Amino acid sequence: MGFRSSLAAALMVVVLFSAACSATAQVDHIGGVVGTSGLAMDFYKDSCPQAEDIIKEQVRLLYKRHKNTAFSWLRNLFHDCAVQSCDASLLLDSTRRDLSEKETDRSFGLRNFRYLDDIKEAVERECPGVVSCSDILVLSSRDAIVSLGGPYIPLKTGRRDGRRSRAAVVEQYLPDHNESMSVVLDRFGAMGINTPGVVALLGAHSVGRTHCVKLVHRLYPEVDPALNPDHVEHMLYKCPDAIPDPKAVQYVRNDRGTPMILDNNYYRNILDNKGLLIVDHALANDKRTKPYVKKMARSQDYFFREFAKAITKLSENNPLTGDDGEIRKHCSVANKNH
Ligand code: HEM
Ligand SMILES: *[C@@H]1O[C@H](CO)[C@@H](O)[C@H](O)[C@H]1NC(C)=O
Repeated sequence: MGFRSSLAAALMVVVLFSAACSATAQVDHIGGVVGTSGLAMDFYKDSCPQAEDIIKEQVRLLYKRHKNTAFSWLRNLFHDCAVQSCDASLLLDSTRRDLSEKETDRSFGLRNFRYLDDIKEAVERECPGVVSCSDILVLSSRDAIVSLGGPYIPLKTGRRDGRRSRAAVVEQYLPDHNESMSVVLDRFGAMGINTPGVVALLGAHSVGRTHCVKLVHRLYPEVDPALNPDHVEHMLYKCPDAIPDPKAVQYVRNDRGTPMILDNNYYRNILDNKGLLIVDHALANDKRTKPYVKKMARSQDYFFREFAKAITKLSENNPLTGDDGEIRKHCSVANKNH
């Protein structure tokens, strides 16, 4: 054994030892074996063994009634976890002190929050005060990916809920629809998500919709010459006004081919200049991302493998664990404000 590998082995022992210590420290009152991140597979195994099944069943029932709930659960993971922490701050309503994250322009189009409350209520009926809203957000996202035809991604739990949501910080974290690829790669890179990971995550735009307000600047006063003319015709039909009527819900489906399925058709679309957002188009044209776009367009397996890794990273971004935060009673209000 060389010096480096024995050092690695020694570090491993330290890591395992401290993991074991934190596990015994936590086991009495929460249950489950807690890793160094504070998160663990099946964290609620002892404290609420039915939790994951209840969430899965609720996601399934909601999906049967409203297919678009699955889009929301997937998008929530990005909008919550990428803003500082997976702490369910996305779900909080504004208070007298703070305008919440939901109220920003970046959050435009987020929907179905009341159905997430239904999932929380179903879990609370079984195990009051045990399962965090942030874990419900993450697990509903995982199960929604399966509803949409994507891979099953085992994810850890044990997150706790934040107490504040601040609209003012959102722009620092979430890229805009017209952001440069350098900024996009930097923002995800700060969460440990590499270039193929970013390319895979944007594959979420293989489902759902984009409202005309986010697209009209590519159509009016002049059509963006980068857009595929066949697609322009459809976009103009869906978004006939340069200033969309705010009361009419006007939008274009992200992937006209298979709008309800999380698949690699998104990559073929963007290579064909049918990407709706400027970032979608940039992904297929930037020399750093294009090779991965081509590879994912060819191989759904490769897309799913990278997607699973990146979703895992995103879901583990800077969680609150142990004694930090709280287990919110209602996902839209911090306990102290309730
Ligand atoms: C550079 C990063 C990203 C930008 C700028 C961005 C921007 C947007 C915009 C502007 C919309 C349209 C919203 C509307 O008009 O209703 C949208 C929709 C959506 N985004 Fe993203 N997004 C990004 C990354 C992601 C990621 C990482 C995910 C998930 C892993 C995601 C999931 C979704 C989903 C599922 C929809 C459809 C929502 C629905 O139909 O309700 N996005 N995104
Ligand atoms: C991006 O779009 C917003 C409107 O949604 C606009 O205010 C902003 O100036 C645009 N940024 C760039 C770099 O074009």
